[in-house]
Amino acid sequence: MSEVVRFAVVGTKSIGRNHIEGIHKTKEAVLTAVCDIREDVAKKTAEKNGLDHYFTDFDEMLAAGGFDCVVICTPDQCHTEQAVKALEAGYHVLCEKPLAMKLEECQQIVDAAKKSDKYFMVGQVCRYTPAFLLMRDMVARGDIGEVFYVESEYAHDYSLIKDAEWRKDPVYLREPVVGGGCHAMDLLRWIVGDPTEVFAYSNRKVLTDWPVDDCTISVLKYPNDVIGKVMVSIGCKRPYTMRTQIFGTKGTILGDNKSDSITLYKAFEYADTGKTSYVPTQIPVVVNNHNMAAEIQDMCNVILGKMPLEIDAVQGANTVAVCRAAVESAATGLPVKPHYFK
Ligand SMILES: NC(=O)c1ccc[n+]([C@@H]2O[C@H](COP(=O)([O-])OP(=O)(O)OC[C@H]3O[C@@H](n4cnc5c(N)ncnc54)[C@H](O)[C@@H]3O)[C@@H](O)[C@H]2O)c1
Repeated sequence: MSEVVRFAVVGTKSIGRNHIEGIHKTKEAVLTAVCDIREDVAKKTAEKNGLDHYFTDFDEMLAAGGFDCVVICTPDQCHTEQAVKALEAGYHVLCEKPLAMKLEECQQIVDAAKKSDKYFMVGQVCRYTPAFLLMRDMVARGDIGEVFYVESEYAHDYSLIKDAEWRKDPVYLREPVVGGGCHAMDLLRWIVGDPTEVFAYSNRKVLTDWPVDDCTISVLKYPNDVIGKVMVSIGCKRPYTMRTQIFGTKGTILGDNKSDSITLYKAFEYADTGKTSYVPTQIPVVVNNHNMAAEIQDMCNVILGKMPLEIDAVQGANTVAVCRAAVESAATGLPVKPHYFK
């Protein structure tokens, strides 16, 4: 097998650019095709990346070929159709989060991925954020004892995003807890497992002209009697952050996606007085909030047979399942058990 993976990127405006940078940073990856329905965007991306052609039609790009893996960076509502088409055309796929907006769409992708002999990975990029990787490792090796409570958030001010039209489409509702909140939901699933039940409240006080509630608070029950909370706001007046706290029987870890250290609290007993204090230890971490290079590296390793696929279609679908349960709970006022995929 060739030691190089050829990538095509569809949707090359914002996060698509991060993926292209990730491809350039990865030894085994090469960019061979780009596609965007906006010709100006596609043309500019091709020129900037030394490609002598570009596509504005996804089907044409699939038919032309010349790549092994398609990276889907289009709006959420395009993921299902493009994912299924790319798999059926015989390509590996790396699809941006959320896998899809609705459970039926997730099912279509899961089915297509199962039918295909190609790899399908979901870009849950928080699993590549250095701070979160360290926090998860610390939990796994027992640094804070047994976890009993977790919390995370997706706090972002979408009023600052230019060209936010698809994010506020009144027909194809992009629920914030699915669209962006999937980061925090996925992070906690990854650390403590699949929640068995979700209860949520939501409101709309900031982005009052948007078609969805802009703030949701979810309370979750996880395996091993762990409980948790996830706050999602797309109108909050604060820089984008995912502040995350993990409470264990022997210590507590605080971290986020934007700071250059995480904090570990552990009990310290003074020998002279016998008094106990909680002394914080700052542990330095690299700040890399959109670590697409690591994602692309893993995708290459998977395709080249060097590692198993971890964030597959079922993983992506199960994160959407938790998010949809929160949406349903906020709408009905009842606790909801997520519908998980196998
Ligand atoms: N991982 C992350 O942290 C992160 C951050 C931002 C966005 N995202 C996700 O990435 C995706 C893209 O978000 P964005 O912020 O880059 O959006 P964007 O609007 O900035 O860019 C999307 C691009 O896709 C193009 N496009 C739309 N429909 C298309 C089609 N059918 N075929 C080809 N091109 C098409 C648009 O012209 C645009 O250039 C979304 O799914 C979003 O949820 C992930």
